[in-house]
Amino acid sequence: MRQLIAGNWKMNGSRAMAAELANALRTATAEGLLSGGKLACDLLVCPPATLVSVVAHALLGSAVAVGGQDCHAALSGAHTGDVSAAMLRDCGATYVIVGHSERRADHGESDAVVRAKVDAAVAAGLVPIVCVGETEAQRLGGQAEAVVAGQLAGSLPEGFAGVVAYEPVWAIGTGRTPTEADVAAMHAHIRAVLIGRLGVAGAGLRILYGGSVKPSNAAALMALPEVGGALVGGASLVAEDFLGIARACTG
Ligand code: 13P
Repeated sequence: MRQLIAGNWKMNGSRAMAAELANALRTATAEGLLSGGKLACDLLVCPPATLVSVVAHALLGSAVAVGGQDCHAALSGAHTGDVSAAMLRDCGATYVIVGHSERRADHGESDAVVRAKVDAAVAAGLVPIVCVGETEAQRLGGQAEAVVAGQLAGSLPEGFAGVVAYEPVWAIGTGRTPTEADVAAMHAHIRAVLIGRLGVAGAGLRILYGGSVKPSNAAALMALPEVGGALVGGASLVAEDFLGIARACTG
């Protein structure tokens, strides 16, 4: 399965920074700097909502897709400050991240809310990237797999056909990552849950790893079984770092 390297810019960026970063990615991918003239992975950037249009315009016709970081569950209406999946699609997005742990923590998003957002994303023609992952206390308590299974059960609608991102909360922005064995074990667990839930279709969905992915650890992480790519935070804000992670994919 071709891997997907997705950048989550979080609440960072200006129009000037977005134009510069998008142009750097456009140039690098057009020049085939990634792998002997051919991209060995799919690329996606998810800027903040204010920059989706800017970035989508700058990357139009390039090999880099654009996504949102969140969407509301409703199509439109009285939801001050929110952005709908259809609005993201209208701005040029083709993906949207939903259920990121920062949204689950900052905005109290439950699995049911995440599931409703997944439905909204699909209805608008976006590919949802559903984030799951345990806290450090849950891992230390031996509950990591049960927590993730519970999040998947609650967050994925019937017939889910998007992307899952495993992001251990304690690895996000900390410079710490699980051991390779732990990543492989969790991805195998998620795969089994997806197949149990979706049948054969669950075997074909990408499962991304996220949490302190950098150029220096990307090759080892991307080589693990069932790792279908990466969801990258901090390192996605620097073109060379993001491209360095993409170069770690061997296809
Ligand atoms: P970092 O790569 O900065 O740890 O962030 C990961 C993440 O939360 C991506 O969604």
